[in-house]
Formats: sequence, structure tokens, C-alpha cells
Amino acid sequence: MMRGLLLGLTLAAGLPLAAHAVTQVSSVTLTPDRPAAPVAAAAAGPDARLERGRYLAIAADCMACHTAAGGKPYAGGYAIDSPLGTIYATNITPSKKGGIGHYTEADFARALRAGVRADGSHLYPAMPYTSYAQLTDADVGDLYYYFMQAVKPVDVPARQTALPFPFNVRLSMLAWNSLFLDNKRFVPDPAKSAQINRGAYLAEGLAHCSACHTPRNVLMGEIGSQTLAGASLGSWHAPNITSDKVSGIGAWTDGELTAYLKTGHVEGKGQAAGGMAEAIQNSLQFLRDDDVAAIVAYLRTVPPVRAPGQTKAAFSHGSAASEEAALRGMVGATERHSLNSGAVLFSGYCASCHSASGAGSTGQSYPALFHNTATGGATPANLVSAILFGVERKIEREEHEAFMPRFDQRSYVQPLTDEQIASIANYVLKQYGNPEVSVTPAYVAQARNGGDKPFLARAQPFMLPGGIAGILLLIALLVWLRRRRQRKE
Ligand code: HEC
Ligand code: HEC
Ligand code: HEC
Repeated sequence: MMRGLLLGLTLAAGLPLAAHAVTQVSSVTLTPDRPAAPVAAAAAGPDARLERGRYLAIAADCMACHTAAGGKPYAGGYAIDSPLGTIYATNITPSKKGGIGHYTEADFARALRAGVRADGSHLYPAMPYTSYAQLTDADVGDLYYYFMQAVKPVDVPARQTALPFPFNVRLSMLAWNSLFLDNKRFVPDPAKSAQINRGAYLAEGLAHCSACHTPRNVLMGEIGSQTLAGASLGSWHAPNITSDKVSGIGAWTDGELTAYLKTGHVEGKGQAAGGMAEAIQNSLQFLRDDDVAAIVAYLRTVPPVRAPGQTKAAFSHGSAASEEAALRGMVGATERHSLNSGAVLFSGYCASCHSASGAGSTGQSYPALFHNTATGGATPANLVSAILFGVERKIEREEHEAFMPRFDQRSYVQPLTDEQIASIANYVLKQYGNPEVSVTPAYVAQARNGGDKPFLARAQPFMLPGGIAGILLLIALLVWLRRRRQRKE
């Protein structure tokens, strides 16, 4: 189970990450709190307001971060293991002692959209306020109403976040916000249909797709010109979902995109693992059909971004192929098929589910490994992460749980080494996926530990000396200015 699993950074940043990428799938399983079919917003009266608030909380996936594994709903304590250090989501139940019971609606709105707490201190962008900034006053009001009226107060405050210097200086977020927070409400584009506008509001605001799918610059701000063009998310990769036919989802049909968002599984295209499995399990599967259709309509309008040099869509690579016959005759006897060769390991660890030819099971609940974006993309991240951390996703309406065991140290089956995983991945890539991509044991080791660290995290050890040098410079400047003034007097 992925319980408690912190896959490295979710998105990075002690800063901006907003990705529950790392969340444990099972901690936030479907509680009775989540309606299987959210009530239509049309009904009137105070309870309709409660239902609207509940629906918004699901669409915005507040639960994913604000509920710890096995913890009470919204009581916080969930650890976001950012490469800059662990950030704990706070208790947002209406308790005056432990939570946000003392928040006025205006305080709540400021926390959600400007990233500022009731006491005036700044939140880290691990709380996705850069996306929530778009929320309308009416929606923020309904959310506030829901949290204050329907969430059970929990009096215990969540664990405190203590990042290393300089990230512990919350005021530095002021500078970050001036660069990366566009604190403006969503404005519908009159040139687009009501459906596309609704989709944009959902995708950009509530469901914060860009928090995971938009690449970030060295300071961890989202790059506006690359909206939804794909981003690394710790050891996982959130693919390009712009309208580009080759690099994005332009060649997926509406039906396929809808099925993906509701179930996380589309034959011949891909499956949702990692942060996407969580987004679907906790949030997207519960959206109304018209809202899912609106998100799909919006995705069609996202400007296409083509990866340089890419000519083939990730889902178009590969075909069925098996080395099983060759293996049978020689059982580890030759150089080519030593016991640690990719073919032998694949046969032992993967073929029972994905079949010896890689074609998966009939019905595809064990998917084919060809025509699969996890093996045909330009990065092996999701292939390697799926082997390391497994796949786990519950879909209520199908009473279905997609489950693949993990093969890292926490596996209940036999753990695989970096070398073994690299061999299997290379075999899978060559047989079924993008043959130009390959994996080294060092790559697997890095993925095991949460993936590539963003610049800010790598720079952190140097910031202390850097910070001291900066302060000395500042003092020198002040002294100089003072002397100058004294000279003039
Ligand atoms: C991707 C993870 C994530 C999601 C999704 C998320 N939050 Fe947060 N939130 C956090 C983290 C982390 C903090 C604490 C950040 C810090 O310590 O600076 C936080 C802090 C807050 C605070 C400040 C509370 C306080 O006084 O400490 C409020 C209020 C809040 N969140 C409300 C919400 C609501 C409402 C939603 C859904 C609309 C939501 N959050 C969704 C991660 C998240
Ligand atoms: C918490 C991070 C996160 C959030 C939020 C998120 N995604 Fe994803 N998404 C991912 C990851 C990671 C994958 C890759 C999953 C895999 O292949 O196992 C993915 C995959 C996808 C895919 C399949 C792409 C492909 O080529 O296989 C689509 C489509 C998609 N996401 C759409 C969305 C939309 C639309 C939203 C917002 C409504 C969204 N995602 C929100 C992380 C996220
Ligand atoms: C017990 C059955 C089982 C075994 C063993 C197994 N898998 Fe899977 N695999 C699954 C299931 C189930 C899924 C997800 C299907 C879904 O999401 O609908 C999956 C998904 C995947 C994916 C797609 C991941 C993504 O992010 O999209 C890849 C790649 C994969 N498996 C490769 C492997 C490899 C390589 C091995 C051997 C090391 C392996 N699997 C072993 C059942 C298995």
C-alpha cells in the first residue's frame, strides 16, 4: 500500500508545490464525508449552500493535503515532503483551539487566495493559493460556510513546519508572491463559450491542474508560456496535456479524456498513478458530468506546446513482443539471459500480470505496456516510479481498485535493486516503449529518493553563507549611505 508514502517532492518546492503528489493514496480514501454523487447545485435553501461548499471542497481537493494518514478529516498533519524540507498542512477544522475557528470569512478568503494567515504570516505555496486566487467570492463564501458548519472541530493543532534557513523566513514569500502570485479572480473570456469558461475556472482554479502539469522556473514559479506543457513531480512526471497532437493530448478523443478523468484508465493511452491517481481518487471522480465535460472542452483550448524534435505521440509506441520462448530453452544459461537480464526479470516479476508479450490481460485491467504513455514518453519517470512505488487507485462507481504492487524496500513482495529495476525498465522500453529512452541504476536510485531536486533545494546549503554575505553587504551599504549623509550635513 502506498500509505504514508512520501514520494519525494511533490512538486517541489517547499515552495510551490501544490502537489499532493506525494500523498499517500490510502490516507485520503473515500470517507463518508464525500458524496458519491455530489448533489446538484440547483437546489435552494441553506442546505444547498452546504452542498455547494462540500462539492467545492472536493473539486479543490482540500482533503488531499489537510488530512493525515489515518487522521481526522481536515485536522492537518499531513506531511508534504518537499526537497526544501517537510511542510505540514495545518488543521483547518473550525476549532478555535486547534484549527481555523477564529477565522472570519475575510481571513479565510485571504488565506485561500493570497496565502496569508489570519495572524498575518505568509503561507508556503505548498498550499496552492496561486491557483485558488482565481476563486470567486461566492465560492469562497460557500467553502467557508461548509468548513464552519459541517466539518467537525478537532482541537489538536497540527504539527509545526520547520524548514531550514532561508526557507524558514516566511516573509520571503512576500518577494516570491510579488513575482508569481497573480492575485486576480477568474474573469470569463466573452469570446469563449460558457462551458469553456467553466472548464477554465475548474482546471486553473479549483482543481489546480497547473500546479502539477506546468513546468516551473528556478525559483519554482509556474512558467506562464508553458501552461500544462508537462513537469517533473519528484520521481513522477505530469505529462504535457496541452492541445498538441503529438506532445499533448490533442489526439485523445473527448470520450478518452473523460474516461481518464473519471476512472484513471484508458485502453491504448494510459493509466493514472502517483499524484494523478490521488487527484482522481479524491476529487475528479466525484465531479458532475457537466463539469468533467467542461474541463475536457477547456483542455482543447490550451495552446499547443510541442516538445522539440518529438514526432510520435507517447501512446503510439510499441507492439506485442515476447522473449519467453527463447528463455525457456536456456534458463539463465547464456550471457544474454543471465539471471539478472531484463527479459528474465520481466518474466519473473511482471509477465504474470502484463503477460509475456506485454499485451496485458483480456479486458486490460492489467494494461498493455505498449501504446501506453508511461513507456512511450520522452522520460522513463512514470515507468520507473510505477515499478518502485506501484499503482493504487480506487474508483467508487466501478467498485474497482487498480492495484500494482511496489517493488522498492517497502514491498511485500521481493524488493528489486536499482540495477534490476534499470534492467527491467530498459527491457520494457526496448520491447514495448520508446526505444530512444534508457535508464541507469543511478537514475533509479535518484527516483527512489524522490527524484531530481529543483535548483532551490540544491542551492539551500549555499544560502546560509550566501545570506551572511548578503547581510554584510547590506550593512556596508547602510554605513556608506550614512557617512555620505553625514558628509553632506
Ligand atoms: C496541495 C496541498 C494543499 C491543498 C490541495 C490545500 N491546502 Fe490548505 N494548506 C496546505 C499547506 C501545506 C498549508 C500550510 C502551509 C504553511 O505552513 O505555510 C495550508 C494552509 C491552509 C490554511 C491556513 C491555516 C492556518 O492558519 O494555518 C487554510 C485556511 C487552508 N490551507 C485552507 C485550504 C482549503 C479550504 C483548501 C481547499 C479549497 C486547501 N487548503 C487545499 C496545503 C494544501
Ligand atoms: C497532484 C498532481 C496532479 C494534479 C493536481 C493533476 N495531475 Fe494530471 N497527471 C499527474 C501525473 C503524475 C500524471 C501521470 C500519471 C501516470 O502516467 O501514471 C498525470 C497524467 C494526466 C493525464 C494523462 C496524460 C498522459 O499522457 O498519459 C491527463 C489527461 C491529466 N493528467 C489531466 C489532468 C487534469 C485535466 C488535471 C486537473 C483537473 C490534472 N491532470 C491534475 C499529476 C497531476
Ligand atoms: C499483480 C499484478 C501486476 C504486476 C506483478 C505488475 N503490474 Fe504493472 N500494473 C498493474 C496494474 C493493475 C496497473 C494499473 C492499471 C490501471 O491503472 O488501470 C499497472 C500499471 C503499470 C504501468 C503503468 C504505470 C503508469 O504510471 O501509467 C507500468 C509501466 C507497469 N505497470 C509496468 C510493470 C512492470 C515493469 C512490472 C514488473 C516489475 C509490473 N508492472 C508488475 C499490475 C501489475
